[in-house]
Amino acid sequence: MCPFVGTVNTGAFDNLLHLSSIARSENIWLHVDGAFGSLVVLNPERRQLVSGIDQADSLAFDFHKWLHCPYDAGCVLIRDVTHLHSTFSVDQTYLDVTDRGCSTDKPWFCAFGPELSRPFRALKVWSTLKEHGTVKLGEKIGENCQQAQYLVSLLEKHDGIIRIIRPITLNIVNFRFEPNELGNVGAETLDIFNDELVADIQVSGIAVPSTTRIQQRLYIRVAIVSHRSTLDDFDIFIKTLLNLYQIRLQSFIKNKKLDE
Ligand SMILES: Cc1ncc(COP(=O)(O)O)c(C=O)c1O
Repeated sequence: MCPFVGTVNTGAFDNLLHLSSIARSENIWLHVDGAFGSLVVLNPERRQLVSGIDQADSLAFDFHKWLHCPYDAGCVLIRDVTHLHSTFSVDQTYLDVTDRGCSTDKPWFCAFGPELSRPFRALKVWSTLKEHGTVKLGEKIGENCQQAQYLVSLLEKHDGIIRIIRPITLNIVNFRFEPNELGNVGAETLDIFNDELVADIQVSGIAVPSTTRIQQRLYIRVAIVSHRSTLDDFDIFIKTLLNLYQIRLQSFIKNKKLDE
């Protein structure tokens, strides 16, 4: 069983307390994908979202996501380390453990994963934690979540033309323009309209939202993970987006008229 703490598309959370009790009673391995969402554990106001994470048999998450470490620094924690050793350790004579000298580590670290030669990933994680500390990093995570709520408050001012996916649990906001001016054009045309608009804003250089599909429809997806973001950035984003929206709307209307 693989519940999510923070899905890619919407930042939604599975109920880990509930799912872990099912996994225990059915004797199922519980792997938690906490790629970015598990790091809310550092933010006291949102920590309850990951309640039950300690029941996982394994947990994967990335320091290069909400901990702002340079790529790549993924991490997997396995409750019973013997599983790693029995999966990855190989008997190679050139990897013998000795009593003295450079090969005294027992077992070798490469016995716990697929890599033998590998970079010193832990250094950048250690440096980030040492420089900023978990309290500050947790505050930054909280700020991103507040910025998501702020963005929603800006979008809500245009309720008639913008549909927002709710609830917004964390730092991800999905929305799409559904302007009445286009008439009854159908959902696919609105998908194209929103897709074009995302390309417009990306090309403008102001912001880089992505697109995603939720219930088969294309949505503009804003995932806020930068420690440098401020509320002003979202004012600029919305102002630019609305300008581009007007331009794109006029061009759609014009093309529609030409088609008629
Ligand atoms: C929930 C979730 N799982 C897995 C991944 C994949 O992570 P990576 O690209 O570091 O392998 C992501 C990336 O956004 C994610 O958000």
